[in-house]
Amino acid sequence: MDTAEIRRRFVSHFENAGHTAVPSASLLLDDPNLLFVNAGMVPFKPYFLGQETPPYDRAVSIQKCVRTPDIEDVGKTTRHGTFFEMCGNFSFGDYFKEGAIELGWDLVTKPIADGGFGFAEDKLWPTVYDDDAEAVELWRKVTGLPDDRIVRLGRKENYWSMGVPGPGGPCSEILIDRGPDYGPDGDFSAEDRYLEFWNLVFMQDELSAVRSKEDLDISGSLPKKNIDTGMGLERVAYLLQGKQNMYEIDVMFPVIEKAMELTGRRYGAGGSEGHTDDVRFRVVADHVRSSMMLISDGVTPGNEARGYVLRRLLRRAVRSMRLLGFEDRALPELLPISRDKMGETYTELHRDWERISTVAYAEEDAFRQTLRAGTAIFDLATTEVKQSGGSQLSGDKAFSLHDTYGFPIDLTLEMAAEQGLSVDEEGFRRLMGEQRDRAKADAAAKKGQHRDASAYRAVADSLGSPVEFTGYAEVVTEGAVRGIVTAGGVTEAAREGDEIELVLDRTPFYAEGGGQLADQGVIELANGARVEVRDVQSPITGLIVHQARVLSGEVTVGVGAHSLVDVERRRSISRSHTATHMVHKAFREALGDTATQAGSENSPGRFRFDFSATGSVPASVMTDVEARVNDLVLADLSVHAEIMTQDEAVKSGAMALFGEKYGDEVRVISVGDWARELCGGTHAGRSGQLGVIKLLGESSIGSGVRRVEALVGGDAYRFLAREHVLVAQLSEALKVKPEQLPERVNDIVERLRSAEKEIEKVRVQQLLDAGAELAAGAEQVGPVKVVAHRVDGAAGGDVRQLALDVRGRLPGGEPGVVVVIGVADGKVSVVAAANDAARERGVSANALVGAVGPLVGGRGGGKDDVAQGGGSDPSRVDEALALVAAEVGRVAGG
Ligand code: ALA
Repeated sequence: MDTAEIRRRFVSHFENAGHTAVPSASLLLDDPNLLFVNAGMVPFKPYFLGQETPPYDRAVSIQKCVRTPDIEDVGKTTRHGTFFEMCGNFSFGDYFKEGAIELGWDLVTKPIADGGFGFAEDKLWPTVYDDDAEAVELWRKVTGLPDDRIVRLGRKENYWSMGVPGPGGPCSEILIDRGPDYGPDGDFSAEDRYLEFWNLVFMQDELSAVRSKEDLDISGSLPKKNIDTGMGLERVAYLLQGKQNMYEIDVMFPVIEKAMELTGRRYGAGGSEGHTDDVRFRVVADHVRSSMMLISDGVTPGNEARGYVLRRLLRRAVRSMRLLGFEDRALPELLPISRDKMGETYTELHRDWERISTVAYAEEDAFRQTLRAGTAIFDLATTEVKQSGGSQLSGDKAFSLHDTYGFPIDLTLEMAAEQGLSVDEEGFRRLMGEQRDRAKADAAAKKGQHRDASAYRAVADSLGSPVEFTGYAEVVTEGAVRGIVTAGGVTEAAREGDEIELVLDRTPFYAEGGGQLADQGVIELANGARVEVRDVQSPITGLIVHQARVLSGEVTVGVGAHSLVDVERRRSISRSHTATHMVHKAFREALGDTATQAGSENSPGRFRFDFSATGSVPASVMTDVEARVNDLVLADLSVHAEIMTQDEAVKSGAMALFGEKYGDEVRVISVGDWARELCGGTHAGRSGQLGVIKLLGESSIGSGVRRVEALVGGDAYRFLAREHVLVAQLSEALKVKPEQLPERVNDIVERLRSAEKEIEKVRVQQLLDAGAELAAGAEQVGPVKVVAHRVDGAAGGDVRQLALDVRGRLPGGEPGVVVVIGVADGKVSVVAAANDAARERGVSANALVGAVGPLVGGRGGGKDDVAQGGGSDPSRVDEALALVAAEVGRVAGG
């Protein structure tokens, strides 16, 4: 039975039983506790917790999930996949244990011909949480199985939580016995033999802390008893398709097949090498699919949080292909295969293909460069360690590989392990920690201290309902203090000078979000106290927290609050936000719909806007976009907000962004009827209020993403005014009219050039005079004469000429190689030249440039006889020169 059919059967079974089919939510939901949606119930969490009223009592969904704590285990076992789909049925205060057991058992045991999965009853083993006598009774009643076929298990297996505070409860699982080949009789922890494929959670508890699977605090009962179930789509698929594991099912195996074709190796070849290869094939199949799904939902590769997970997945997939012997670009071959399979269900993969593939392929290219540069250094380091009889790569080395070459630590670990070496991880982490602390000091000063979510949770619970944000309509609001959090936790009162996080029941202060910076301002309390608001955040849904300092008086919970937003700042930020929408739309008009927003920051008077694009944006497009948006500023379009359903929003042509949950009402901002976008931010009332928009420029921020920076309103005007003054000064200094400036400057540049040429002739002569001396001072490395020399003030051509000159002066017939590194104006030029005799000994100019290039922050290449490179980091030139003799020694036997 193919995966699509399993999906259909699951959904229709529950639809027939009165469930509403709910499409999968994005993998990225706004939950501070979760990096990614990791279970089918996540989108329904507010219903379970009683925070929102569900629009239905029963629901069924097949939810995209990503779990990443055990990336290293992928492929080694049959069960670990980073991306998977969870089929689930949910009851919100409707049926409970009995209904869940009946519905689940019916579907799994119903014959295939009747629309079920047709599992044989004698192979199935239900489990219950050990003291759940009620569940045992119900299983007996529903299935007719004898008592000894119902397995009692402890908390570890049969109590389910999200791993973080939130809803949870005892559960029952359905296991299938795959027979004695997979493990001993009756050992229910041997997961390969008794494979769990469906978990029925009797969700009834609210958890305040989860320290481990077995160590958790139940703080109370949920408002209603609920059902949350999760059936692993991939598990059922491999059981029904007669496969050994999830990587071999119909929607995944084609990627492995393609990988076999590309690498010429065989999956399932047997033997220990075969097993190692199999793991790599599975890693490829899993990671390619997961990365694609993550990018589809809006993740871009980066060095933090979600972006880092994606980067790791993509890089591990690429590296696994290399380890399987395929060194070309792998993703353009593999990703489309996964798209064709997954795209049957997730049609957005086709729609957004341009963006998805651009992001993925750019990351592979970046990684290939990293690998090229870093591998040489890595090899050198491991050779050193081995030669000195050591078995561990130092923390320092691992750190410099990370810092200088962008080698992620897990890559260093993996590569070291392949060489039989360990890595001083602790040392590495200490150095990383020190670096991070330095970087954090700044950020912390801005954001205030970071609290753990439990203090916020406590305040949110005491509020009962979400904080009301009044700031769309007003900038002054009456409310009352409802919570105070300090470094020590929740408190009742704060005094003058205290740094606090203040929660009100209603506030006009906008919390940073959607790329818009927070409001600032003042809160005056009814008892005369005053508080200065510096930043506003929403650490958990429904809560708005003012990071503030008590200017005078005492702040106490309950007292009335008169909130005043700094109106100038707010207006200025709002203008930036409206401008961002306009620029976004204008870029889409100019470059096509693939120019989707990938991030933005709207601050007072200026904004930056990131979007996907394959290459740099031509200057003419920048000019056109700027002209277009300024025309529409003049057209004074009205800017308005509407609340609508997602369907309506899509129909109205709104650009949908990521992270929306199906069923949510959305807020759509329209600039005239031109730019329409889902947005929770604040905006100018009319485009005319923006005054002027000035684009400052665009640049790459990596992985197919471009960044445009721009000024708006008064800041744009002042920028232009300053430029005007500059032009006036230049025209005064050069004594020409402004319009004659370009010609005049060209003229001057021309004259300068010919003067420089004259100077150059003299300099080259001086330089060459040094050649004879250098050749005479060559160092003997084994059989090879080596000259490694630094010249300050010389660049590309000169350096090359000197290197060739010196090579010519080395004794003919003897192996000789010359490396000259020139440093001029912070730029580094490297030229290597090897004579015929040296090349016969295996010394290659090209390899030498490849080896030293990374040390000077660059790269280059050429032929074996002459190669040239450039870089931008002169700080390690001496180290690079020292490396030359070592490299020559290594290849030619020094
Ligand atoms: N939420 C439950 C799980 O993830 C069904 O296993």
